[in-house]
Amino acid sequence: MPATPSTMLVYLNGHFLPKDQATLSVEDRGTLFGDGVYEVLEYYDGRPFAMQGHLDRLRQSLAGIRLPAPAAVDRLPEISDELLRRNHLTHARLYWQVTRGPAPRNHLPPDEPTPTVLAIPTPIAPLNVRAPVQCWKAITHDDLRWARCCYKTLMLLPNTLAKDEARRAGCQEAILHRNGTVTEGSATNVLAVCDGALWTHPADASILHGITRAIAIDLARALGLALHETALTVEQLRAAEEVMVTGTTARVTAITHVDGHPIGAGEAGPVTTRLHETFLKQLSQQCQPAGCT
Ligand code: PDD
Repeated sequence: MPATPSTMLVYLNGHFLPKDQATLSVEDRGTLFGDGVYEVLEYYDGRPFAMQGHLDRLRQSLAGIRLPAPAAVDRLPEISDELLRRNHLTHARLYWQVTRGPAPRNHLPPDEPTPTVLAIPTPIAPLNVRAPVQCWKAITHDDLRWARCCYKTLMLLPNTLAKDEARRAGCQEAILHRNGTVTEGSATNVLAVCDGALWTHPADASILHGITRAIAIDLARALGLALHETALTVEQLRAAEEVMVTGTTARVTAITHVDGHPIGAGEAGPVTTRLHETFLKQLSQQCQPAGCT
């Protein structure tokens, strides 16, 4: 029997516990300071998508906040498998979080932290390789985050507030910019088609190095598209032939309007649709027994 929300087991510091019995210290530095990092990955048919990429990035994020990787991180793939197995889940989204753990509140991080390691599964629908491309509208919004967005930290308040602004404007995503230069979405990377080529912000410290972005770039290259890892201005974005966002949960999603202006014909364009289709194909191929990562 698949778990219900209340009987769902989560992983916490070496234990598999019902969600409503898993508790954190009130002094966990993740809560007090946003002092931690996370990953979100998906399983289809009991198999993870891009596990290695998520694992590598989690290690980079941990190194970025100078938190030695706890032993559980080495066992993340096995623990993830076990969490799905114990919950009788075959299609699931997994949220992994590692914080610097509990310590009396002090800005100075403890010399010898006891990290908190947490994983929460959520059931998701099976993969539909023929799903139509999703269409979103976006606003543009100041990128108010810190200067190390390449680390996937828990400090998401600028992202969540920007997303809230988008919702208030009847949109699904906020595209962030620093002084008019587009960086990425509040929870996605941004790519655009201009003069038939694909443009996206370079993978430097200002953006998260999205796993989906990297796959979309590889797929675009395989399709023979020219690629420019060069940042666009908000004006260039609004004038693009196509705009799309990528992410583990968004996959490849078309942005049909930016700040109320239609992009191209105001519908998903051919490059976005093609990348969406080839991405779904790759997802389904990787999550088949023979080719799984
Ligand atoms: N967010 N940029 C930001 C700011 C993100 O938060 C995310 C993902 C991405 C896309 O990265 P990837 O393709 O590796 O998922 C880009 C996750 C899904 C989240 O916070 O829930």
